Amino acid sequence: MSSNVSSAIPSYGPIPRVAEAPRIVGPVKFGVVGYGYWGPNVVRNLQSLAGAEITSVCDKSSAARRRVHKNYPNIYVSSDASEIVSSPDTDAVAIVTPVWTHYELAKAALENGKHVFVEKPFTSNTAQAEELIELAEQKNLKIMVDHTFLFTGAVRKIQQLLKEGSLGKIYYYDSTRVNLGLFQHDINVIWDLAPHDLSIMDFVLEQRPEALVATGQTHLNEHEDVAYITLYFPDNLIAHINVNWLSPVKVRTTLIGCEKKMLVWNDLEADEKIKVYDKGVNITNSEGLYQLLVNYRSGDMWAPQLEQVEALRQELTYFVDCIVNDRTPFNDGAAGLRVVKMLEAANLSISKRGALVYL
Ligand SMILES: NC(=O)c1ccc[n+]([C@@H]2O[C@H](COP(=O)([O-])OP(=O)(O)OC[C@H]3O[C@@H](n4cnc5c(N)ncnc54)[C@H](O)[C@@H]3O)[C@@H](O)[C@H]2O)c1
Repeated sequence: MSSNVSSAIPSYGPIPRVAEAPRIVGPVKFGVVGYGYWGPNVVRNLQSLAGAEITSVCDKSSAARRRVHKNYPNIYVSSDASEIVSSPDTDAVAIVTPVWTHYELAKAALENGKHVFVEKPFTSNTAQAEELIELAEQKNLKIMVDHTFLFTGAVRKIQQLLKEGSLGKIYYYDSTRVNLGLFQHDINVIWDLAPHDLSIMDFVLEQRPEALVATGQTHLNEHEDVAYITLYFPDNLIAHINVNWLSPVKVRTTLIGCEKKMLVWNDLEADEKIKVYDKGVNITNSEGLYQLLVNYRSGDMWAPQLEQVEALRQELTYFVDCIVNDRTPFNDGAAGLRVVKMLEAANLSISKRGALVYL
């Protein structure tokens, strides 16, 4: 593929070599690597999209391969990921394997000219994420990191409400994601559960934290199973994330406190997942007394209507659209990198028993 370097362009240093985007005619052909817990959801959704076609699925486990074959007898099944990432019969590769495998698989796919859909968290460290982003840019290929929650009706509504400003200045973001298990063998509870909260926070607040503090504790293996992250933003905005594999009950609740209104998102509610409370506090100084007067405001509660969609299906539709129309997804490698930076900083802070780590 020729680069876009033209002799007519004056040289101000090296011009990056950018390949032309591979032209795709007909449905985007996908290879999927990983058919464990989450892989079947990716395969099912891709398989049902008009603009996509699965040409191959790969898993190291023979039991997983048997499941693929039983559910999709016409799809080619492989035990060797290198076959999928280099296949002339794929335009894009979905990587649905544990995080420590993402970098090698994504790198091989990009080097072979494939667009990449990769699970959260993007990579095991920031250096890997930066390298993959650069590689994708050089080859003009798309990376989408599966931050599935960004495609739910609830997160879309929260983002809209915060963006339009009706809730007022944001004071805090407070998220609890706890349940019993599933214990992971390769990562701690932060790398398992917090990518959801951090990616949602990054998306809806549209602000970048300056620093964080994280604490956590191990109980049953060498990975933290209970952890707390506090993130400091400019202008007094603060966020707190509580993740836990040792909770007797499942909780998925986010509070967003703003100057004018306060929002509660309970993702376990069947209806009315989001409630917006017209509650707040006004502080006034009483003249002459120099004494704080606190007025508590308690008005109506409103539960907005939410779009009922399968988030992963929306996301994969969007990925296909980005590939076909050469658009950069908002949940691209850079968004994945921002989350990995926070995860890495959280691990560093935990190792120093809650030291402040600048981002
Ligand atoms: N977006 C979400 O909501 C969501 C939900 C669950 C999991 N995930 C992510 O999906 C990824 C996979 O998680 P999971 O729970 O499905 O894990 P899993 O262990 O259940 O499945 C992973 C599968 O990948 C296979 N595999 C591993 N390395 C391979 C390789 N090199 N080549 C071929 N096959 C290989 C394994 O045999 C296994 O079947 C993780 O990154 C996880 O964080 C995302």
